[in-house]
Amino acid sequence: MQKKTAIVTGAARGIGLATTRLFLNEGWQVAMIDRDAPALEDAASGLDGALPFLCDVSQPDQVDATLPRIIDAFGGVDALVNNAGIADFGPIAETDFARWRRVMETNLDGVFLMSQAALGPLCARRGAIVNIASISGLRASTLRVAYGTSKAAVIQLTKQQAAELGEFGVRANCVCPGPVRTKLAMAVHSQEIIDAYHDAIPLNRYGSETEIAEVIVFLCSGRASYVSGQVIAVDGGFESTGVGLPALRTDDTIPTG
Ligand SMILES: NC(=O)c1ccc[n+]([C@@H]2O[C@H](COP(=O)([O-])OP(=O)(O)OC[C@H]3O[C@@H](n4cnc5c(N)ncnc54)[C@H](O)[C@@H]3O)[C@@H](O)[C@H]2O)c1
Repeated sequence: MQKKTAIVTGAARGIGLATTRLFLNEGWQVAMIDRDAPALEDAASGLDGALPFLCDVSQPDQVDATLPRIIDAFGGVDALVNNAGIADFGPIAETDFARWRRVMETNLDGVFLMSQAALGPLCARRGAIVNIASISGLRASTLRVAYGTSKAAVIQLTKQQAAELGEFGVRANCVCPGPVRTKLAMAVHSQEIIDAYHDAIPLNRYGSETEIAEVIVFLCSGRASYVSGQVIAVDGGFESTGVGLPALRTDDTIPTG
C-alpha cells in the first residue's frame, strides 16, 4: 500500500519535529519545511522517510517553488500541518507596524499561503489540514496583541477552510496548544508567566511536544474522518477553567468518593 505523505511546517524543532517523528512512527512519509537551514538539516538527517525542504512559509515565491518539489519527491499530499510560528510578546504601544507584520507574516500569511499552494494536491487525495493556533488565540492576555490576534485569525481561517473545502473531501481543524517548553515559549515565558500558567492549568504543568503531536496526527488520520471545522485546545484544561484553582490546591490530599 502507498504510504501517506504529510507536510509539516516549522519541522526543525519543537512541536513540528515531534509531529514529524510521530507521523514516521505511524508509517507516514514527511516533507519537513523550515527556514532555519542548519537546524532543518540536522533534524532531518537521522529520520528515515522524511525529507527537508528549506522554505520560508511567509514568502509566496518560496512557497510556490517548494510545493512542486514535494510532489516530485513524494507523489502527493495527504495532510498539511501548518505549525511554523513565531512568538513576540510586547505592549501595544511598543508594537510598531514592522513588529506586527513580522508576527502576522509567518503566523497568519504562512498558513494562508501554504494551504493555498497545497490545495490541488490535498483535494486530489481528499486530505486534511491541521493549523496550529494557540490558547492565546482563544483567550486574550497582556503582551500578545500581535501573537494573540494572529492565532485568533488562524482559528477563523481554519473554519473558513472547513466550510469551503468540505465538498472536496478536505477536512480542516485547528489545534490550540497550551504552554510547552520549546525554544519559542522559553524565549517569552518569564518565571512569573511560568508560575501563572501552573496556577491556571488544572493539570498543573506544561505540556510536552509529543502530547500536542498526538492530537495533530490523530486529526490528520482516517480515525478523524468525520471531524472538520473543530478547534481543539490541548492545554491541560486551561481554556475551560475559571477562577479559584490555586485556592483549591491548598490541601493536597487526593479526593475520595
Ligand atoms: N510552545 C508553546 O508553548 C506553544 C503554545 C501555543 C502555540 N504554539 C505554536 O506551536 C507552533 C510551534 O511552536 P514551537 O513552540 O514548537 O516553536 P519552535 O520555535 O520550537 O519551532 C518553530 C519552528 O518554526 C520555524 N519557523 C518559524 N518561522 C518560519 C517561517 N516563516 N518559515 C518556515 N519555518 C519557520 C522555526 O525555524 C522553528 O524551527 C507555533 O505555531 C506556535 O505559535 C506553541
